[in-house]
Amino acid sequence: MEEKKKRVFSAIQPSGTITLGNYLGALKNWKFMQDEFDCIFALADLHTITVRQEPATFRKNIYDAYASLLACGIDPEKSPFFIQSHVTTHAQLAWVLNCYTQFGELSRMTQFKDKSAKHADNVNAGLFTYPALMAADILLYQADMVPVGADQKQHLELSRNIAERFNGIYGNVFKVPEPYIASKGASVKSLQDPTKKMSKSDENLNGCIMLNDSPDIIMKKFKRAVTDSDSKIVYAEGKDGINNLMGIYSTITGKSFEDIEAEFEGKGYGDFKTAVGEAVVEELRPIQERFVKYSADKAYMQECYSKSAEFAQKISQRTLDKAMKKIGFVPHA
Ligand code: TYM
Repeated sequence: MEEKKKRVFSAIQPSGTITLGNYLGALKNWKFMQDEFDCIFALADLHTITVRQEPATFRKNIYDAYASLLACGIDPEKSPFFIQSHVTTHAQLAWVLNCYTQFGELSRMTQFKDKSAKHADNVNAGLFTYPALMAADILLYQADMVPVGADQKQHLELSRNIAERFNGIYGNVFKVPEPYIASKGASVKSLQDPTKKMSKSDENLNGCIMLNDSPDIIMKKFKRAVTDSDSKIVYAEGKDGINNLMGIYSTITGKSFEDIEAEFEGKGYGDFKTAVGEAVVEELRPIQERFVKYSADKAYMQECYSKSAEFAQKISQRTLDKAMKKIGFVPHA
């Protein structure tokens, strides 16, 4: 008998241009997981309105993010890839899970603390309860594994706690998901401040490589990358800038840190930065070409996200119905 493939679920926010951090920490792994696992992916647009969005820009960002993921190799024929707001069960289960999530737990989320400091004029309830929506996203699909970058680990731990708490009261309703955090690329840092994660909301644009940056811009950003006053290309404590560049180079080329150290022995930081920049340019070139093709084909995108949403609605409805019934709600049919 053929063994049942493990279910993988993950999502990304359409909150602006996708970054090299998103790509190396998540999307590159999603692409490879598609053959081995039963994958479902989503654009987490409901999460994005926790920060105020300008409507026309938001809509464009959603289309662009969808086209970018197709360009990165997400194939909706293999892995349904839907838009979260098209599948009604997410907001429904999120409400339910909000009632099984403690104020104290949510208060400890570092992302909430960071984002509320950054958007002090809009510390809304959605920003606070965001992890309950994220738990709903995952638990609806009975996911075994959730591939994410290191910054999402705390949210995943909370999802596991919520699932365990719910199961503890009502029996086995949700699969308790495992995080999948790759050993490489899970924490790409800013090129301007390598102690912070690379993020699209970085005020210093030179710190962040966008998936659609031109080769020229990519090379310039790498040449300006902050390093240290030493001159050796070795992976070592205190060399955050070089460690970050080595991590990026290693994730793209597949070379180990030892191989990279040997390759650049006796060479300077300038040579190394050029090599990393060129590797990134070549990695992104085919993705950028495919992005142009997909973003011009809204009809194809619509076909993909509509079919995917239909599938996701069906699968997730089963879990939602089961959870509601266990709580004691009266079934509607
Ligand atoms: P988001 O949209 O911020 O990021 C998408 C994915 O990219 C990873 N990532 C990084 N990895 C390495 N280095 C970086 N600098 C870097 N920046 C981002 C993130 O870890 C993530 O895997 N809340 C989620 C979206 C979400 C979700 C979910 C994820 C909603 N529901 C359910 C998993 C399961 C978020 O804001 O990711």
